[in-house]
Amino acid sequence: MSLAKSDPSLQRYSVWNRLNHWLVAISFVLLVLSGLPFFHPFFWSLTALFGGPTMTRILHPWIGLFMTLMFLFMAIAFFRESLIRRRDIQWLRQIRDVLANRDDKLPPVGKNNAGQKLVYWIMLGCIALLLISGLLIWQPYFAGAVPITLRRLASLGHAGVAFLAILTLIIHVYSGIWVKGSFQAMVRGRVSWAWARHHHDLWYEEEREKARKHRAISSRHDTPTNRQESP
Ligand code: HEM
Repeated sequence: MSLAKSDPSLQRYSVWNRLNHWLVAISFVLLVLSGLPFFHPFFWSLTALFGGPTMTRILHPWIGLFMTLMFLFMAIAFFRESLIRRRDIQWLRQIRDVLANRDDKLPPVGKNNAGQKLVYWIMLGCIALLLISGLLIWQPYFAGAVPITLRRLASLGHAGVAFLAILTLIIHVYSGIWVKGSFQAMVRGRVSWAWARHHHDLWYEEEREKARKHRAISSRHDTPTNRQESP
C-alpha cells in the first residue's frame, strides 16, 4: 500500500495562507536587513543590498507598509485558531514537559499550540507598534508634524520593538525546525494524519470527525470518491 493510502494527508494551510505567510516572512526579513544599518553602523554594508544608503532609507518604510498589510490579512485568517484557551495556560505552565518532549503529559492541543499562539499575539502587538512609531518618524511625510520629543521616543520605541520582533522570529523559525514536518506544512500545505495526531491531537480529532461526516454525506448521495480520506 502506498504511503498516501496508508496515511493520506490532511490540509493544514490553503494556497493563499501559504503565499500570504511567505510574503510576510520575505518582507519581514527585508525589513530587518534594511533597518539594521540605521540601528548601528556595524550593519552599514547591508545598505549595498538595496542600492545604497539613500535607497535603503526610502525603501524601508514602504516595505514596512507592505509587510503590515500582508500581516493584517494573515492575522485575520489565523485569528480564530490563535485565541488563547484555558488549556493553553496549562500548556504554558508545563513548558518544561514541552521542552523535554514529554508530550503524553501535556493537555490536548488544537490547530495551534500555546507557543504558536503567543508568537501570533506578540507579532500582532509588535507590528502595530512598529507601524505607529514608524509613521511618526517617517521623513519627509509625517515626521515634520510630530513634536521632537515624541519623535525621539518613537525612534527609541521603534528600535526596541523591532528587537523583540526579531527575537520572536528567531524562536518561531527555531520551533519550525524543531517540530519536524512543520516546514512541509507551510510549503506544501498538507501534513500526515499521524503528524496531526502527534502534535495537535484535538485538531486531529476535529478533522477526523469532519472527514467522517463528509464521508457519510457522500455515501448517502452516492457521489464519486473525491473526498479527503482519514484513518
Ligand atoms: C523567515 C521566516 C519564517 C519562517 C522560516 C517561518 C516558518 C513557519 C512555519 C514552518 C510555520 C508552520 C508551523 C506549523 O504549522 O506547525 C509557520 C506558521 C506561522 N508563521 Fe511563520 N515563518 C517565518 C516568518 C514569519 C513571520 C515574520 C511571521 C509574522 C510576523 C510569521 C507568522 C506565522 C504564523 C502566525 C503562523 C501560524 C501559526 C504558527 O504555526 O505559528 N512567520 N511559520
